[in-house]
Amino acid sequence: MSELRIAVLGVGVMGADHVARITSQISGARVAVVNDYLAEKAEQVVASVPGARVAGDPLDAIAADDVDAVLLATPGPTHEKQLLACLEHRKPVLCEKPLTTDVDTSLEMVRREAELETPLIQVGFMRRFDPEYQQLKALIDGGELGRPLVMHCVHRNPAVPPGFDSSMVVKDSLVHEVDVTRFLLGEEIASVQIIRPTPNSAAPAGLLDPQIAIFRTQSGRHVDVEVFVTTGVGYEVRTEVVGERGSATIGLDVGLIHKSSPGRWGGQITPGFRERFGLAYDIEVQRWVDAVRSGVNVNGPTAWDGYAAAAVCAAGVRSLETGETVAVELADRMDG
Ligand SMILES: NC(=O)c1ccc[n+]([C@@H]2O[C@H](COP(=O)([O-])OP(=O)(O)OC[C@H]3O[C@@H](n4cnc5c(N)ncnc54)[C@H](O)[C@@H]3O)[C@@H](O)[C@H]2O)c1
Repeated sequence: MSELRIAVLGVGVMGADHVARITSQISGARVAVVNDYLAEKAEQVVASVPGARVAGDPLDAIAADDVDAVLLATPGPTHEKQLLACLEHRKPVLCEKPLTTDVDTSLEMVRREAELETPLIQVGFMRRFDPEYQQLKALIDGGELGRPLVMHCVHRNPAVPPGFDSSMVVKDSLVHEVDVTRFLLGEEIASVQIIRPTPNSAAPAGLLDPQIAIFRTQSGRHVDVEVFVTTGVGYEVRTEVVGERGSATIGLDVGLIHKSSPGRWGGQITPGFRERFGLAYDIEVQRWVDAVRSGVNVNGPTAWDGYAAAAVCAAGVRSLETGETVAVELADRMDG
Protein backbone atom coordinates (compact mmCIF):
# COMPACT_ATOMS: atom_id res chain seq x y z
CA MET A 1 0.00 0.00 0.00
CA SER A 2 1.21 3.51 -0.71
CA GLU A 3 0.87 6.20 1.90
CA LEU A 4 -1.92 5.40 4.39
CA ARG A 5 -4.64 8.06 4.23
CA ILE A 6 -6.01 8.60 7.72
CA ALA A 7 -9.17 10.34 8.90
CA VAL A 8 -8.77 11.82 12.38
CA LEU A 9 -12.12 12.22 14.14
CA GLY A 10 -12.22 14.62 17.10
CA VAL A 11 -9.37 17.11 17.22
CA GLY A 12 -9.37 18.14 20.87
CA VAL A 13 -6.31 17.46 23.04
CA MET A 14 -5.57 13.94 21.78
CA GLY A 15 -6.76 14.27 18.18
CA ALA A 16 -4.86 17.51 17.51
CA ASP A 17 -1.72 15.88 18.93
CA HIS A 18 -2.22 12.85 16.70
CA VAL A 19 -2.68 15.05 13.61
CA ALA A 20 0.60 16.84 14.38
CA ARG A 21 2.30 13.50 15.10
CA ILE A 22 1.17 11.85 11.86
CA THR A 23 2.07 14.95 9.85
CA SER A 24 5.53 15.52 11.27
CA GLN A 25 6.82 12.23 12.68
CA ILE A 26 5.07 9.17 11.30
CA SER A 27 6.29 7.61 8.08
CA GLY A 28 4.03 5.92 5.53
CA ALA A 29 0.93 7.87 6.47
CA ARG A 30 -0.72 11.25 6.16
CA VAL A 31 -3.83 12.91 7.52
CA ALA A 32 -6.30 13.03 4.63
CA VAL A 33 -9.48 14.07 6.45
CA VAL A 34 -10.26 15.83 9.71
CA ASN A 35 -13.61 15.94 11.42
CA ASP A 36 -14.76 17.56 14.64
CA TYR A 37 -18.15 18.27 16.11
CA LEU A 38 -16.96 21.90 16.17
CA ALA A 39 -16.36 22.71 12.51
CA GLU A 40 -14.13 25.69 13.28
CA LYS A 41 -11.81 23.45 15.29
CA ALA A 42 -11.48 21.08 12.32
CA GLU A 43 -10.81 24.03 9.97
CA GLN A 44 -8.15 25.36 12.31
CA VAL A 45 -6.34 22.02 12.53
CA VAL A 46 -6.58 21.22 8.82
CA ALA A 47 -4.96 24.56 7.95
CA SER A 48 -1.63 23.14 9.14
CA VAL A 49 -1.89 19.91 7.12
CA PRO A 50 -1.11 20.16 3.42
CA GLY A 51 -3.55 18.22 1.23
CA ALA A 52 -6.03 17.44 4.00
CA ARG A 53 -9.71 18.36 3.95
CA VAL A 54 -12.46 18.81 6.51
CA ALA A 55 -15.43 16.43 6.54
CA GLY A 56 -18.61 17.84 8.03
CA ASP A 57 -19.89 14.49 9.26
CA PRO A 58 -17.84 11.80 11.04
CA LEU A 59 -19.69 8.96 9.31
CA ASP A 60 -19.00 10.51 5.89
CA ALA A 61 -15.33 10.75 6.86
CA ILE A 62 -15.24 7.04 7.73
CA ALA A 63 -16.98 6.04 4.49
CA ALA A 64 -14.91 8.32 2.24
CA ASP A 65 -12.98 6.81 -0.68
CA ASP A 66 -9.94 8.92 0.16
CA VAL A 67 -9.72 7.39 3.65
CA ASP A 68 -7.93 4.07 4.28
CA ALA A 69 -7.98 4.07 8.09
CA VAL A 70 -9.44 6.01 10.99
CA LEU A 71 -7.99 7.44 14.17
CA LEU A 72 -10.80 7.94 16.67
CA ALA A 73 -10.15 10.63 19.26
CA THR A 74 -13.72 11.68 19.95
CA PRO A 75 -15.21 11.42 23.47
CA GLY A 76 -16.01 7.86 24.66
CA PRO A 77 -19.82 8.10 24.28
CA THR A 78 -19.47 8.62 20.51
CA HIS A 79 -17.14 5.64 19.96
CA GLU A 80 -19.82 2.95 19.58
CA LYS A 81 -21.53 4.51 16.55
CA GLN A 82 -18.25 5.52 14.91
CA LEU A 83 -16.63 2.11 15.49
CA LEU A 84 -19.66 0.35 13.99
CA ALA A 85 -19.27 2.54 10.90
CA CYS A 86 -15.57 1.60 10.70
CA LEU A 87 -16.52 -2.10 10.83
CA GLU A 88 -19.27 -1.61 8.24
CA HIS A 89 -16.82 0.02 5.83
CA ARG A 90 -13.99 -2.38 6.78
CA LYS A 91 -11.73 0.51 7.82
CA PRO A 92 -8.96 -0.27 10.33
CA VAL A 93 -9.32 1.99 13.34
CA LEU A 94 -7.07 3.10 16.18
CA CYS A 95 -9.59 4.00 18.89
CA GLU A 96 -8.51 6.05 21.88
CA LYS A 97 -9.66 4.39 25.08
CA PRO A 98 -12.34 3.55 26.07
CA LEU A 99 -13.51 1.10 23.41
CA THR A 100 -17.07 2.08 24.36
CA THR A 101 -18.50 3.36 27.63
CA ASP A 102 -20.13 0.16 28.92
CA VAL A 103 -19.52 -3.56 29.05
CA ASP A 104 -22.41 -4.70 26.85
CA THR A 105 -21.57 -2.44 23.92
CA SER A 106 -17.86 -3.30 24.28
CA LEU A 107 -18.65 -7.00 24.07
CA GLU A 108 -20.93 -6.34 21.11
CA MET A 109 -18.00 -4.63 19.37
CA VAL A 110 -15.82 -7.72 19.95
CA ARG A 111 -18.64 -9.84 18.49
CA ARG A 112 -19.15 -7.68 15.42
CA GLU A 113 -15.45 -7.62 14.67
CA ALA A 114 -15.16 -11.41 15.15
CA GLU A 115 -17.99 -11.92 12.64
CA LEU A 116 -15.92 -10.11 10.01
CA GLU A 117 -13.06 -12.56 10.60
CA THR A 118 -10.52 -9.80 10.18
CA PRO A 119 -9.12 -7.68 12.99
CA LEU A 120 -9.85 -4.00 12.47
CA ILE A 121 -9.91 -2.41 15.92
CA GLN A 122 -6.86 -1.39 17.95
CA VAL A 123 -7.48 0.32 21.30
CA GLY A 124 -5.23 3.19 22.38
CA PHE A 125 -3.75 1.78 25.55
CA MET A 126 -0.48 3.49 24.70
CA ARG A 127 1.46 2.44 27.78
CA ARG A 128 2.12 -0.92 26.13
CA PHE A 129 4.36 0.98 23.67
CA ASP A 130 6.26 3.00 26.28
CA PRO A 131 9.92 1.91 26.33
CA GLU A 132 9.93 1.50 30.15
CA TYR A 133 6.84 -0.71 30.14
CA GLN A 134 8.38 -2.65 27.22
CA GLN A 135 11.56 -3.17 29.25
CA LEU A 136 9.61 -4.28 32.29
CA LYS A 137 7.56 -6.70 30.20
CA ALA A 138 10.76 -8.12 28.67
CA LEU A 139 12.27 -8.56 32.15
CA ILE A 140 9.18 -10.43 33.34
CA ASP A 141 8.85 -12.58 30.21
CA GLY A 142 12.58 -13.32 30.26
CA GLY A 143 12.18 -14.81 33.73
CA GLU A 144 14.73 -12.52 35.36
CA LEU A 145 12.42 -11.58 38.22
CA GLY A 146 11.30 -15.14 38.73
CA ARG A 147 7.54 -15.59 38.99
CA PRO A 148 5.84 -12.20 39.57
CA LEU A 149 3.74 -12.33 42.72
CA VAL A 150 2.77 -8.77 43.58
CA MET A 151 2.48 -5.49 41.72
CA HIS A 152 2.23 -1.98 43.20
CA CYS A 153 1.06 0.84 40.97
CA VAL A 154 0.76 4.58 41.50
CA HIS A 155 -1.26 6.89 39.24
CA ARG A 156 -1.15 10.55 40.30
CA ASN A 157 -2.37 13.59 38.43
CA PRO A 158 -1.99 17.20 39.55
CA ALA A 159 -5.64 18.03 38.75
CA VAL A 160 -8.70 16.90 36.83
CA PRO A 161 -11.09 18.86 34.60
CA PRO A 162 -14.40 20.19 36.00
CA GLY A 163 -17.08 17.52 36.21
CA PHE A 164 -14.64 14.66 36.84
CA ASP A 165 -16.54 12.39 39.25
CA SER A 166 -15.62 9.41 41.46
CA SER A 167 -16.57 6.76 38.89
CA MET A 168 -14.36 8.53 36.32
CA VAL A 169 -11.38 7.92 38.62
CA VAL A 170 -12.07 4.23 37.89
CA LYS A 171 -13.13 4.43 34.25
CA ASP A 172 -10.70 7.10 32.99
CA SER A 173 -7.65 6.78 35.25
CA LEU A 174 -7.60 3.31 36.81
CA VAL A 175 -8.46 1.81 33.41
CA HIS A 176 -4.82 2.29 32.35
CA GLU A 177 -3.62 0.24 35.35
CA VAL A 178 -6.19 -2.40 34.43
CA ASP A 179 -4.62 -2.70 31.00
CA VAL A 180 -1.07 -2.55 32.39
CA THR A 181 -1.89 -5.41 34.79
CA ARG A 182 -3.33 -7.59 32.03
CA PHE A 183 -0.40 -6.71 29.72
CA LEU A 184 2.43 -7.27 32.20
CA LEU A 185 1.05 -10.33 33.98
CA GLY A 186 -0.57 -11.85 30.88
CA GLU A 187 -3.78 -12.92 32.54
CA GLU A 188 -7.25 -11.64 33.31
CA ILE A 189 -8.26 -9.84 36.49
CA ALA A 190 -10.71 -11.93 38.50
CA SER A 191 -11.88 -9.46 41.11
CA VAL A 192 -11.58 -5.84 42.11
CA GLN A 193 -12.10 -3.91 45.31
CA ILE A 194 -11.99 -0.14 45.62
CA ILE A 195 -11.08 1.30 49.03
CA ARG A 196 -11.92 4.93 49.77
CA PRO A 197 -9.53 6.61 52.21
CA THR A 198 -10.24 10.06 53.68
CA PRO A 199 -10.71 12.32 50.64
CA ASN A 200 -8.22 15.05 49.80
CA SER A 201 -9.60 18.29 51.24
CA ALA A 202 -8.35 20.07 48.11
CA ALA A 203 -10.41 17.79 45.82
CA PRO A 204 -13.66 19.15 44.32
CA ALA A 205 -16.66 18.55 46.61
CA GLY A 206 -17.94 14.99 46.38
CA LEU A 207 -14.92 13.57 44.56
CA LEU A 208 -13.64 10.44 46.28
CA ASP A 209 -9.93 10.95 45.77
CA PRO A 210 -7.60 9.18 46.40
CA GLN A 211 -8.88 5.66 45.76
CA ILE A 212 -7.03 2.40 46.35
CA ALA A 213 -7.82 -0.48 44.02
CA ILE A 214 -7.01 -4.10 44.79
CA PHE A 215 -7.00 -6.55 41.89
CA ARG A 216 -6.71 -10.29 42.22
CA THR A 217 -5.74 -12.05 39.01
CA GLN A 218 -7.15 -15.38 37.87
CA SER A 219 -4.06 -17.23 39.15
CA GLY A 220 -4.26 -15.39 42.51
CA ARG A 221 -1.66 -12.63 42.09
CA HIS A 222 -2.15 -9.36 43.97
CA VAL A 223 -2.06 -5.88 42.44
CA ASP A 224 -2.66 -2.68 44.40
CA VAL A 225 -3.09 0.72 42.81
CA GLU A 226 -3.13 4.17 44.38
CA VAL A 227 -5.07 6.52 42.13
CA PHE A 228 -4.81 10.11 43.33
CA VAL A 229 -5.88 12.63 40.71
CA THR A 230 -5.83 15.94 42.62
CA THR A 231 -2.33 15.95 44.12
CA GLY A 232 -1.56 19.48 42.91
CA VAL A 233 1.99 18.30 42.25
CA GLY A 234 2.68 16.61 38.91
CA TYR A 235 2.09 13.54 36.76
CA GLU A 236 3.42 10.39 38.39
CA VAL A 237 2.79 6.95 36.98
CA ARG A 238 4.88 4.15 38.36
CA THR A 239 4.81 0.41 38.54
CA GLU A 240 6.74 -1.98 40.75
CA VAL A 241 6.66 -5.70 40.07
CA VAL A 242 7.83 -7.99 42.86
CA GLY A 243 8.84 -11.47 41.80
CA GLU A 244 10.33 -14.54 43.44
CA ARG A 245 13.85 -13.45 42.44
CA GLY A 246 13.80 -9.65 42.69
CA SER A 247 11.79 -6.59 41.89
CA ALA A 248 11.74 -3.90 39.22
CA THR A 249 10.33 -0.40 39.17
CA ILE A 250 9.53 2.01 36.35
CA GLY A 251 8.18 5.54 36.33
CA LEU A 252 10.70 7.34 38.54
CA ASP A 253 12.10 9.39 35.64
CA VAL A 254 15.36 7.46 35.74
CA GLY A 255 14.53 4.44 33.56
CA LEU A 256 13.99 0.91 34.81
CA ILE A 257 15.35 0.11 38.27
CA HIS A 258 16.07 -3.57 38.68
CA LYS A 259 16.64 -4.37 42.33
CA SER A 260 18.83 -7.39 42.07
CA SER A 261 21.51 -4.73 41.74
CA PRO A 262 21.70 -1.37 43.52
CA GLY A 263 19.71 1.47 41.96
CA ARG A 264 19.59 5.20 42.39
CA TRP A 265 16.90 7.67 41.55
CA GLY A 266 16.14 11.36 41.65
CA GLY A 267 15.30 14.18 39.31
CA GLN A 268 12.28 16.07 38.17
CA ILE A 269 8.58 15.26 38.24
CA THR A 270 6.90 15.09 34.85
CA PRO A 271 4.18 17.73 34.44
CA GLY A 272 1.65 15.79 32.33
CA PHE A 273 0.75 12.64 30.43
CA ARG A 274 1.80 14.09 27.07
CA GLU A 275 5.36 14.62 28.32
CA ARG A 276 5.48 11.22 30.08
CA PHE A 277 3.98 9.17 27.25
CA GLY A 278 4.80 11.25 24.13
CA LEU A 279 7.20 8.62 22.83
CA ALA A 280 4.69 5.84 23.58
CA TYR A 281 2.08 7.61 21.41
CA ASP A 282 4.65 8.01 18.60
CA ILE A 283 5.53 4.31 18.69
CA GLU A 284 1.87 3.28 19.04
CA VAL A 285 0.80 5.23 15.95
CA GLN A 286 3.84 4.20 13.86
CA ARG A 287 3.29 0.50 14.65
CA TRP A 288 -0.42 0.82 13.88
CA VAL A 289 0.33 2.51 10.53
CA ASP A 290 2.84 -0.24 9.69
CA ALA A 291 0.33 -2.94 10.68
CA VAL A 292 -2.44 -1.46 8.52
CA ARG A 293 -0.10 -1.01 5.55
CA SER A 294 1.03 -4.62 5.84
CA GLY A 295 -2.58 -5.85 5.99
CA VAL A 296 -2.39 -7.09 9.60
CA ASN A 297 -4.40 -4.04 10.75
CA VAL A 298 -3.82 -4.47 14.49
CA ASN A 299 -0.50 -4.62 16.36
CA GLY A 300 -1.40 -3.80 19.94
CA PRO A 301 -4.37 -3.88 22.31
CA THR A 302 -7.41 -5.43 20.64
CA ALA A 303 -11.17 -4.99 20.97
CA TRP A 304 -11.03 -7.83 23.52
CA ASP A 305 -8.57 -5.81 25.61
CA GLY A 306 -10.96 -2.86 25.45
CA TYR A 307 -13.86 -5.08 26.52
CA ALA A 308 -11.90 -6.72 29.36
CA ALA A 309 -10.89 -3.30 30.68
CA ALA A 310 -14.54 -2.18 30.57
CA ALA A 311 -15.61 -5.30 32.50
CA VAL A 312 -13.01 -4.70 35.24
CA CYS A 313 -13.95 -1.01 35.50
CA ALA A 314 -17.67 -1.88 35.75
CA ALA A 315 -16.84 -4.18 38.67
CA GLY A 316 -14.69 -1.37 40.11
CA VAL A 317 -17.56 1.12 39.95
CA ARG A 318 -19.82 -1.39 41.76
CA SER A 319 -17.12 -1.83 44.42
CA LEU A 320 -16.75 1.94 44.72
CA GLU A 321 -20.40 2.06 45.79
CA THR A 322 -20.30 -0.83 48.29
CA GLY A 323 -16.66 -1.18 49.33
CA GLU A 324 -17.02 -4.94 48.71
CA THR A 325 -14.81 -7.09 46.50
CA VAL A 326 -16.65 -7.63 43.19
CA ALA A 327 -15.97 -10.54 40.84
CA VAL A 328 -15.26 -9.63 37.21
CA GLU A 329 -17.60 -11.36 34.77
CA LEU A 330 -16.01 -12.07 31.40
CA ALA A 331 -17.62 -13.68 28.35
CA ASP A 332 -15.85 -16.56 26.60
CA ARG A 333 -13.21 -15.36 24.19
CA MET A 334 -14.33 -15.15 20.59
CA ASP A 335 -11.39 -13.34 19.04
CA GLY A 336 -9.16 -16.37 18.42
N1 LIG B 1 -4.60 7.34 25.83
C1 LIG B 1 -4.61 8.35 26.67
O1 LIG B 1 -3.70 8.53 27.46
C2 LIG B 1 -5.70 9.36 26.63
C3 LIG B 1 -5.54 10.61 27.24
C4 LIG B 1 -6.58 11.54 27.16
C5 LIG B 1 -7.74 11.21 26.50
N2 LIG B 1 -7.88 9.97 25.94
C6 LIG B 1 -9.12 9.60 25.21
O2 LIG B 1 -9.11 10.29 23.97
C7 LIG B 1 -10.44 10.66 23.60
C8 LIG B 1 -10.50 12.17 23.40
O3 LIG B 1 -10.08 12.82 24.59
P1 LIG B 1 -9.59 14.35 24.60
O4 LIG B 1 -8.98 14.55 25.93
O5 LIG B 1 -8.82 14.65 23.37
O6 LIG B 1 -11.01 15.10 24.55
P2 LIG B 1 -11.32 16.58 24.04
O7 LIG B 1 -12.62 16.94 24.66
O8 LIG B 1 -10.14 17.47 24.22
O9 LIG B 1 -11.54 16.38 22.47
C9 LIG B 1 -12.65 15.72 21.90
C10 LIG B 1 -12.98 16.40 20.58
O10 LIG B 1 -14.01 15.63 19.93
C11 LIG B 1 -14.98 16.54 19.40
N3 LIG B 1 -16.25 15.80 19.29
C12 LIG B 1 -17.19 15.60 20.23
N4 LIG B 1 -18.17 14.81 19.75
C13 LIG B 1 -17.83 14.52 18.47
C14 LIG B 1 -18.44 13.73 17.44
N5 LIG B 1 -19.59 13.09 17.63
N6 LIG B 1 -17.79 13.64 16.25
C15 LIG B 1 -16.64 14.30 16.03
N7 LIG B 1 -16.02 15.06 16.95
C16 LIG B 1 -16.61 15.14 18.18
C17 LIG B 1 -15.00 17.69 20.38
O11 LIG B 1 -15.50 18.89 19.77
C18 LIG B 1 -13.51 17.82 20.76
O12 LIG B 1 -12.82 18.69 19.89
C19 LIG B 1 -11.36 10.15 24.72
O13 LIG B 1 -11.86 8.89 24.36
C20 LIG B 1 -10.40 10.02 25.91
O14 LIG B 1 -10.80 9.05 26.86
C21 LIG B 1 -6.89 9.07 25.97
